[in-house]
Amino acid sequence: MSIKPIIYLPDPILRQQSQPVERVDKELERFIEDMIETMYDAPGIGLAAIQVGVPRRLLVIDVAGKDEPRNPQVFINPELVATGDAMSVYEEGCLSIPDYYADVERPEAITVRHLDRAGKERVTEADGLLATCLQHEIDHLNGVLFIDHISKLKRDMVIRKFTKLARQRVTA
Ligand code: NI
Repeated sequence: MSIKPIIYLPDPILRQQSQPVERVDKELERFIEDMIETMYDAPGIGLAAIQVGVPRRLLVIDVAGKDEPRNPQVFINPELVATGDAMSVYEEGCLSIPDYYADVERPEAITVRHLDRAGKERVTEADGLLATCLQHEIDHLNGVLFIDHISKLKRDMVIRKFTKLARQRVTA
C-alpha cells in the first residue's frame, strides 16, 4: 500500500470528467487500498480517484465518528438515482482545497446505484453526513468542486488564494 499525492486547486486535472471503471480486478483492489490509506493519512472523510490524478469513477468514504471503528466504504461507478425534497446544510471542506470550509446546501437524502469493491451491484440509501459526502465526491467525478456551490465572490477569492499558493510552491 502507498499514500498517493493529492492534487490541489487550481490544478485543471480536478476539472476533468472521470470515466467509468471497466474492470474490478486485483489492480483496482490495490488502488482502492491506496486511496483508503491516503484518505486516512490526510485525514479526510472522502476521496475521489481524480484527486490523486486518476480519472476513474471511483470514490472512498468513511464517515464513522472519532470514537467509532473505521468503516471505509467504496463506491465504483456511482450514479445518483433519486434525491429527496428536503435540503440540509453542512460546512464542507475538501482535501484538494486544504483549510477552507464553507456551508453548502444539498438534498438531505439520496439513493445511489453503484458497484461495491467486489464488483457487485448495490443500491445505497443515504442521509445526513453520508449523503452530503457522497454528493461532494460524485461531484468530483464530474469535475465539480464544492466551491462551485458557493457565491461567485467567495469562489473567486478561494481560487485566487490557491493560485497564489501554487505559484509559491513552484518558485520556492
Ligand atoms: Ni473534495
